[in-house]
Amino acid sequence: MRVALTYNLKKKDPQKPADYFSECDSEETINSVVSALKIKGHSVEAIDVEYPALFSYFKNNRVDMVFNIAEGKHGRFRESEVPAVLDYLNIPYTGSDTFSLALALNKTLTKKILKAENIPTPNFQLFVKGDEALDSDLRFPLIVKPNCEGSAKGINKTNVVNNPGDLKTKVKECIYIYRQEALVEEFIEGKELTVGILENGKTRVLPILEIDFSNCKKSGEYFYSWKMKEFQGNRELGLVPEFYCPARLDKDIEEKVKDVALRTHRAVGCLDISRTDIRLDMNNVPYVLEINPLPGLDPKESNFPIMAYAAGMKYEDLIEAILISASERNKA
Ligand SMILES: Nc1ncnc2c1ncn2[C@@H]1O[C@H](COP(=O)(O)OP(=O)(O)OP(=O)(O)O)[C@@H](O)[C@H]1O
Ligand SMILES: [Mg+2]
Repeated sequence: MRVALTYNLKKKDPQKPADYFSECDSEETINSVVSALKIKGHSVEAIDVEYPALFSYFKNNRVDMVFNIAEGKHGRFRESEVPAVLDYLNIPYTGSDTFSLALALNKTLTKKILKAENIPTPNFQLFVKGDEALDSDLRFPLIVKPNCEGSAKGINKTNVVNNPGDLKTKVKECIYIYRQEALVEEFIEGKELTVGILENGKTRVLPILEIDFSNCKKSGEYFYSWKMKEFQGNRELGLVPEFYCPARLDKDIEEKVKDVALRTHRAVGCLDISRTDIRLDMNNVPYVLEINPLPGLDPKESNFPIMAYAAGMKYEDLIEAILISASERNKA
């Protein structure tokens, strides 16, 4: 197949906030996807979707399929930008469509759908201005998150609050810095899990990945915060989470977790690939935090490839599975 890889490159720019490029992909990831596609016999061109490259490339080149990992640039629908252009040009692409990408990026809307589907998700309230009265049903500790970000942008340990005063400060700060609503959720104490779905012929749930932060005490971090993700593996900072794949779960709980992830994938209408982040509470209830239709694909650092490896796949098999799933769908 003739494939174009669309991406937004992670850059270093001291003028921008430290987390500005966190969602974007590193050269390492881009090169790895290109190599994987080549190993599988495809011809590939990688396109940084900066304006006007996206338009000029597709004006002058025909491709069979776009392998899309572009996170987009602007606002609440940014992950849909490249798919929307490709839809307009009638060019097929891997992964979820414009609608599901926009939906999944909006955590509150996604949670409303999960509630309607009886999929457990932490109780929540959306703050638009920051002055709203706290819903009396919500129980501290609460966590404050930007409603439409990824890569744990704007999420650090001070976002977990224990009283109304700290809550208000954090909510206002979140709205001001990220120029969007703040989602406030009950903080679920318990195991951190993430579940990969790969539509590889038939839809399959990959072995569950458990992320254990008990080795990170030196860092002061205790959940999958921005700092934990950005500096994962840094021994000096003590940001050394341990990964267990498959997760250390009893069979019945494992099945329950896989079931909620699959139902989340379907409820949001994801295609080919997704990764659902879950917290298991003390009673083993799997609470869905969010779903990522564009999970990171760094061969060494990202969660999704770890799950694919545990399922016996090589990196290139994972990339090929995504491509084949999309191309089968487009034939149908
Ligand atoms: N309600 C919650 N209870 C407990 N921990 C939470 C909760 N919400 C978020 N967290 C912690 O913060 C991390 C990041 O939150 P979340 O997955 O919602 O953000 P994100 O920016 O969309 O992440 P990603 O990097 O997966 O795109 C979670 O993996 C978890 O460790
Ligand atoms: Mg997450």
